[in-house]
Amino acid sequence: MTAGLTEHTPAATAEPAERLRTCVERAIAAVHDLVRELRLTETELHAVVEFLTRVGRAGELMMLSDVTHTSILVDELTHGGERGTPSDVEGPLYRPGAPVEDSPAVLDRADRGEDVLLLRGHVLDADSGEPLPGAMLDIWQADQAGLYEDQDGGQPDYNLRGRVRADAQGGYEVRTVVPSAYAIATTGGPVGELLAALGRHDRRPAHVHVKATAEGHRPLTSQIFLAGDPWLHDDVIGAVKPELVVTPHPCDLPGVEPPRRALRVDFDVVLAPAGE
Ligand SMILES: [Fe+2]
Repeated sequence: MTAGLTEHTPAATAEPAERLRTCVERAIAAVHDLVRELRLTETELHAVVEFLTRVGRAGELMMLSDVTHTSILVDELTHGGERGTPSDVEGPLYRPGAPVEDSPAVLDRADRGEDVLLLRGHVLDADSGEPLPGAMLDIWQADQAGLYEDQDGGQPDYNLRGRVRADAQGGYEVRTVVPSAYAIATTGGPVGELLAALGRHDRRPAHVHVKATAEGHRPLTSQIFLAGDPWLHDDVIGAVKPELVVTPHPCDLPGVEPPRRALRVDFDVVLAPAGE
């Protein structure tokens, strides 16, 4: 636990023990201040401990960080002001090890007749605007019912996930399905109970997650949002950034007939040089 905490703190490489001591002491002082201000009772303390224990056992600690907008705050403090495509939070549903595909790639491995999303663009250098051949885009998303493949036994392993290698011109094209907005809380889970008790919804607008890497460039973790989504201005994790909202355009694709829709989205991924 200690190693995990120090690995993700900015000063970890310099003085990890001192950084840990500083973080813990400040956190304790902040908690004590809050306890005094709120005159926390013993009953409430026990309720907090029981709640956090349930969150941990349910594997919802990252979800709790997300819905309290702590994750997006850390993202902004870490990456705010960086050049290129804005970053965004990773969220709890990334799976490493997705199949590697050359562009153009098909990530709809279920082929259940869902609406088609053609996501395409280039991976570019922030300085020169030149394309970055061989850049890798690790993409993951929910399906049209708002479910990731590991939440849905009806989807094949790694459905709507893939590491897509850009072509020799730095271009990429991914044929996937139109993602849906979704509810993040699991039924009966502690974070969902908390949101309900606070009168908050648990919806996220439709989005596609992406991690982009290219030699000599700063890795990027971000999300792409679809314009027109009803939850775009009320994301439960507060992670929508205007630069990441793109407009889908109807397009013609062989084999896709109405009422099934085919939408095209153009999105360039711009990476800053490493070491900035
Ligand atoms: Fe997501």
